[in-house]
Amino acid sequence: MPYYLGVDVGTTGVKALLVDEEGRVVSSATSEYPLYTPRVGWTEQNPEDWWRATKEAIKILLKTARIKGEDVEGVGLTGQMHGLVTLDREFNVIRPAILWNDQRTGEEAEYMNSKLGIEMLVSITGNIAHTGFTAPKLLWVRRHEPENFSRIYKFVLPKDYVGFRFTGDIVTDVNDASGTSLFNVRERQWAEEIIDALDLPFDIMPDVLESPEVRGEISAAAAEETGLRKGTSVVAGAGDQGAAGVGAGAIEEGVLSVNIGTSGVVFAGISEFRYDSLGRLHAFCHAVPGAWHLMGVMLSAGGSLRWFRDNLGHLEKVAASLTGVGAYDLLCKEAERVPPGAEGLLFLPYLAGERTPHADPHARGVFFGLSLKHGKGHMVRAVLEGVCYGLRDSLELMKSLGVEFREVRVLGGGARSLLWRQILADVFGLNVYTMEVDEGSSFGAAILASVGVGAYSSVGDAVYRIVRTRDAVKFNETNHRVYEKYYRLYRELYPLLRNAYKKLSEIV
Ligand code: XUL
Repeated sequence: MPYYLGVDVGTTGVKALLVDEEGRVVSSATSEYPLYTPRVGWTEQNPEDWWRATKEAIKILLKTARIKGEDVEGVGLTGQMHGLVTLDREFNVIRPAILWNDQRTGEEAEYMNSKLGIEMLVSITGNIAHTGFTAPKLLWVRRHEPENFSRIYKFVLPKDYVGFRFTGDIVTDVNDASGTSLFNVRERQWAEEIIDALDLPFDIMPDVLESPEVRGEISAAAAEETGLRKGTSVVAGAGDQGAAGVGAGAIEEGVLSVNIGTSGVVFAGISEFRYDSLGRLHAFCHAVPGAWHLMGVMLSAGGSLRWFRDNLGHLEKVAASLTGVGAYDLLCKEAERVPPGAEGLLFLPYLAGERTPHADPHARGVFFGLSLKHGKGHMVRAVLEGVCYGLRDSLELMKSLGVEFREVRVLGGGARSLLWRQILADVFGLNVYTMEVDEGSSFGAAILASVGVGAYSSVGDAVYRIVRTRDAVKFNETNHRVYEKYYRLYRELYPLLRNAYKKLSEIV
């Protein structure tokens, strides 16, 4: 029986996932590595750690699954996007990788947006230049570490460094390249006009493939180190969100995937390049050849509920340790007793600032409408609802570009709460489904591998055959009407607070 391996090079560790031909998960394993913060706001990792963890995760996986390396027919890569890995002429790593959540490049991102103009940047790259994206990192290295910059022969993205260690090829894929701010997302090739305007050398860009295309074959050395077979195909793969979109079957218009982890991601596959002219949504090439995707990112989705549990849920934590029922479940039980709309209490989930739709690092959380009648259950319900309103902002931006949806597929820790799924369905006015396989990115990468080696004729064919939904939550018309009123009010609150947020940040 052939197996396919998905390798997800994440921010905290590598996750390796093995699936069979029917898309059933056979086994998974993880291996962690440190994240370095040499200064406040800086985040770096050592690419060698990614490779060490990849080898370790694969070895554990093969051992626990009792599967021989020869039975793995293809490998698909995915991982944290936007990170800058610099390589010299001998393919040595020049400096630690600068990660997607590193904040040092505020000035460079602002320089790009003003020098090139939002209109040009968005119409070519699909996005404004964000602090976390790759191009501002290159500009930062050029300005602050000219010696390192002059040694750059190629740069790659995190999963592509692991790809290089597997096959020796210096390659990225169209989806991950879309997060660099240097890629012509419409044409699916490097954006020469942007690279020229920034005076960056064109030859440091890696070659670009479509996600299911084979990037190379596992070398003898990598076979020795991982236990996999020499000559096994490794596909180009995709960034973590693009791969998760494949894993959720969000590859065509009509299906919206919502991932409620610490952050919240609203993701839609589209069949022609469309973008928000103000760059509030991300527009990337999809991991599906010839398709694109739109994406909204909320910074504190599950993170808002975690904050509540950790700071105001001590009682529930103690009760959880005594009863074995989880603290989140106990909090949600209290929220269940409160009607939709939390009797006039709203929560703005901007605990860590916000990316979509406000792109405002100064925004902060708010309980609005608090009164004497409100108790803890109201507050929990308001948090769950506020997160859904914030996610709805991304849905509305997508709809304003003419994209229509018939269903939502929900993934991540937040998907485990039936109450949260019901609120999401009622706020969105759409039915919400969970997935049979909730592994996200690594599952998508394994699917891309199976397509790359020819087990399926296309990503669409593979998704049609192996991606299945599980439980459905139907939206309730009456609740939806209640939420429409609250959502309209929710949208009015941020503009009223924008200046106050700025002032608050100045005081603090
Ligand atoms: C995508 C993004 C994150 C990172 C890390 O734009 O910033 O998903 O890829 O997970």
